Amino acid sequence: MSNNIESLEEKVAKRSPFYIVPSSEISDKEINSVIELQNKYLRTGNVEQDKDEGRYLSTITDVELLKEMLKEDGLILLVDSDTGRLASYALLSSLKLTGGIPKQQLFLEKLKTIKYKGEKLEDKDVIVYHQICIDEIFRNGRVPLELSKEIKKRFSEKYKYVIGKIGDDNPKSLNLVLDHLGFEQLARYSEGNRSLTIVIQDFFGEKRKIDKKYERYARAYNVMTGVFLPYQELKKAHVENILQNTEYGEWVLDFGAGTGNASFDLLKEERRVVALDRNENMLQYCRRQLIQFREDVDYKIVSQDIFDTDFSEGEFGAISAMNVLYHLKNGDHKKYLSEFLRLLKAGGVLLVSGPHSDTNSIKLRDFILKNISDEDKIRYKEHLEIAIESQKALVDDPDHKNISGEELVKIMQEVGFVDIEKSDIYYDGLNYFIKAKKPNN
Ligand SMILES: C[S@@+](CC[C@H](N)C(=O)[O-])C[C@H]1O[C@@H](n2cnc3c(N)ncnc32)[C@H](O)[C@@H]1O
Repeated sequence: MSNNIESLEEKVAKRSPFYIVPSSEISDKEINSVIELQNKYLRTGNVEQDKDEGRYLSTITDVELLKEMLKEDGLILLVDSDTGRLASYALLSSLKLTGGIPKQQLFLEKLKTIKYKGEKLEDKDVIVYHQICIDEIFRNGRVPLELSKEIKKRFSEKYKYVIGKIGDDNPKSLNLVLDHLGFEQLARYSEGNRSLTIVIQDFFGEKRKIDKKYERYARAYNVMTGVFLPYQELKKAHVENILQNTEYGEWVLDFGAGTGNASFDLLKEERRVVALDRNENMLQYCRRQLIQFREDVDYKIVSQDIFDTDFSEGEFGAISAMNVLYHLKNGDHKKYLSEFLRLLKAGGVLLVSGPHSDTNSIKLRDFILKNISDEDKIRYKEHLEIAIESQKALVDDPDHKNISGEELVKIMQEVGFVDIEKSDIYYDGLNYFIKAKKPNN
């Protein structure tokens, strides 16, 4: 990695393998390239053969309809930066435009009957995801993530939800949107003898929910981590392992950096740190804590979700995720661990810790109380109460899977980490602490 952050960003820009065509630059030529890709991959009435060949099934779209979608910014075209070839596209449209498509009527009728989290889906809140197609040679790459980032960028201000439907005869697409694009299953219905699943992506729901909890917790977190010794020990394990496995000045990603405690220690030891967290309440303490170091030279604070960033492959010598992965929804762990693997340099190290699946807020409360001096209990009474309450809201949240260390190790193996070592010595066994490596080339 280079010495200053500007050239780092230039580098990232250069290395980006795809170019997203702005709507204003999409002409008939680009629209034809969409149709060409559709002709290549999307064949109707040949379901069995398409399934065998792993193709993404759907129908060829009328050019006029594509132009209408374009007016709504709904043509997302990803072009391979090297060759200029269309690598992938996604088609989206508002419910209003979708309403004019005869083929979509059954889907729209079904949608009217559905509630999400107890509320009816208002037309103005929904953008419909019709089709995604990835040219064969670009599959298994970064395409789904790039698409999903672009969808968020274009539509998350204007709409609350992206909704799509996928036929049971197309399991590959269903897996793609559920495993890689952050959708969840919403409902099932039939069109003739075809059964379909309706999927939904809630742009901000998950983030909003967790962020609300940290709004209140941030100040107490900042204070309590300073006096809670088991936390200090766990942090030391993260930091020391990173120091042993990286060189001076090498970049480290502190994922879910929070108030910046581990980042601070790493900076003191002359590692460069990207402190990434999507919660501004936590980051305001991080900013204060890191202020004595040189921003943009020694550290960078990134106020984003990891999947909204532009980090490139092999960018980090080490990644630390201290007490973060328990915020993930069931099934998301693989997506995060694959991204960590991509971001690490060959031989880079990942450190992960968090509460085991059977660690609930009661066990944590007892553990916290046991490890805080009577004096601090009185001095920080209010913070302590907020910390215990917040732990309850976060750790017991039924929407999140507090995965066990063993399960995490399994997923790490699956995605390609090696030399995985797990220990349960921190937090009296309530937490796991795992070290894993990206293979040397
Ligand atoms: C319990 S705190 C841990 C903070 C810090 N690692 C530490 O140990 O002191 C978890 C942090 O992870 C952040 N976080 C959770 N999921 C995230 C995501 N997908 N992207 C960025 N930050 C995330 C939360 O905002 C929160 O600040």
